[in-house]
Amino acid sequence: MATLLIVDDEKSTRDGLRMALEEEFDCYLASSIKEAMSILKSEPIDLLLTDLRLAGDNGMDLLDQALAIPQPPVAVMMTAYGSVDTAVEAMRRGAWNFVTKPLNLDEVELLLKRASRSRSLEKDKVRLEHEVKDLREKAGNRKHGLESLIGKSAAMQKVSELVTQVAPTRATILIEGESGTGKELVAHAIHQLSGRPAEKMLVVNCAALSPQLLESELFGHEKGAFTGASQRRIGRFEQANGGTIFLDEIGEIDQATQVKLLRVLSERTVERVGSNKPINVDVRVITATNKNLRELVSKGEFREDLFFRLNVVRILMPTLCQRAEDVVILAQAFLREFSSENQKKLKPLTDDALSKLRSYSWPGNVRELRTAIEHGVVMSNEDVIGCQHLPYFLNSSEHKPTLSAAQSSPLSVQKEDSHAEQMPLASNEEFNLHVLELQVIRRALRETKDNRTEAARLLGISRRTLQRKLKDIESPS
Ligand SMILES: Nc1ncnc2c1ncn2[C@@H]1O[C@H](COP(=O)(O)OP(=O)(O)OP(=O)(O)O)[C@@H](O)[C@H]1O
Ligand SMILES: [Mg+2]
Repeated sequence: MATLLIVDDEKSTRDGLRMALEEEFDCYLASSIKEAMSILKSEPIDLLLTDLRLAGDNGMDLLDQALAIPQPPVAVMMTAYGSVDTAVEAMRRGAWNFVTKPLNLDEVELLLKRASRSRSLEKDKVRLEHEVKDLREKAGNRKHGLESLIGKSAAMQKVSELVTQVAPTRATILIEGESGTGKELVAHAIHQLSGRPAEKMLVVNCAALSPQLLESELFGHEKGAFTGASQRRIGRFEQANGGTIFLDEIGEIDQATQVKLLRVLSERTVERVGSNKPINVDVRVITATNKNLRELVSKGEFREDLFFRLNVVRILMPTLCQRAEDVVILAQAFLREFSSENQKKLKPLTDDALSKLRSYSWPGNVRELRTAIEHGVVMSNEDVIGCQHLPYFLNSSEHKPTLSAAQSSPLSVQKEDSHAEQMPLASNEEFNLHVLELQVIRRALRETKDNRTEAARLLGISRRTLQRKLKDIESPS
């Protein structure tokens, strides 16, 4: 069913139109530009029917704003009888058509049906364009498929083979692996190779939302389903229809949402919160977690039946330490990426730096390596990138060799701190280094979603050192 947003400042007109049109269209209502835009930005609206005269607002402004969003609706304007000039002006600005008030409801319905057909033709056109673009990219081999997964190790080859094998199927896939091992990258590769890459892949981070928000994000809700549900909301499953949904950090979802998700997977239907009308959805589900789901099942924190549904195909991402032979290839790739991003000359890593990279245990996996190389690129003002340009932890006496299996040994605070103070700093470089350090710290916090313990680990410093540096940032002396 096509979605229709009706905008009129008169309640009776809005309600009347809704009553006349709700059989044919999924209707949303708004009385001002502000309300209308907030719906247009959060819901996939196909058709917009708006009055040109809105109390305090000008319908023409709404038209301009609505047509400027990424997937604009087809707009039909309502104008007062006799104001053909404004109607013509609206069409010049991109409106599809107009109707005159007083409204003839049959005429409105007919026009909207035609608008809806034009909208689906438009959608087909966009899809075809995507497909053509995709074929072109395939021919030019620039797809974000397997080639974005860097690594020649046997462990990585196995992952690539599995991805190639399962991508074209509709099988549900569970990607497990430590943080930073490339789970999200693999999910994107699977979608790209799925044979339906023109369809969308929607990503939902299950850890980022409260249980109630997550539920309505995934399944949608009806107007009035709970306090604050002032409009109907189409959930991610419905939006992803025909494509892929990637549920990241699936280990974090609460019991009630687990039950609902199980129903979606077994019956291939969703029910919006506040409604018991099942809606068919055809969505490929990929999930990822850095937890061991089987363990959560045995602890009773994750439903076993859901686990079986999700675990149709399991891809276990190797840690970087398990594929140490890939470190140098990855480092070279990141070197190219960050040199060009920072508009710097591509410089080689010194032999010492390479051997440091090779022997480190990389508890934060590829993400940690990537950050370390970015640090090196930004810090080096010489013709090479040496150990002195890499983050502290690689040069630290705390440096853990690959085979020590010392991933979880806590860093000694005293040593760490005194080490940081011993860093040789030429005074004229001090200021720049401070600024760069801030950038690296901010980035680490962003990467870890403000988890300070994780961020400290990623940076290879103690949590206390990080706290101190953050305090310096907040109140510089
Ligand atoms: N094989 C790889 N080749 C190139 N880049 C990689 C590879 N694996 C990971 N990366 C890069 O490392 C970073 C982390 O990857 P990604 O976000 O996919 O990890 P993740 O397993 O989802 O981590 P988390 O559990 O913390 O969400 C990204 O910048 C990604 O591009
Ligand atoms: Mg991830």
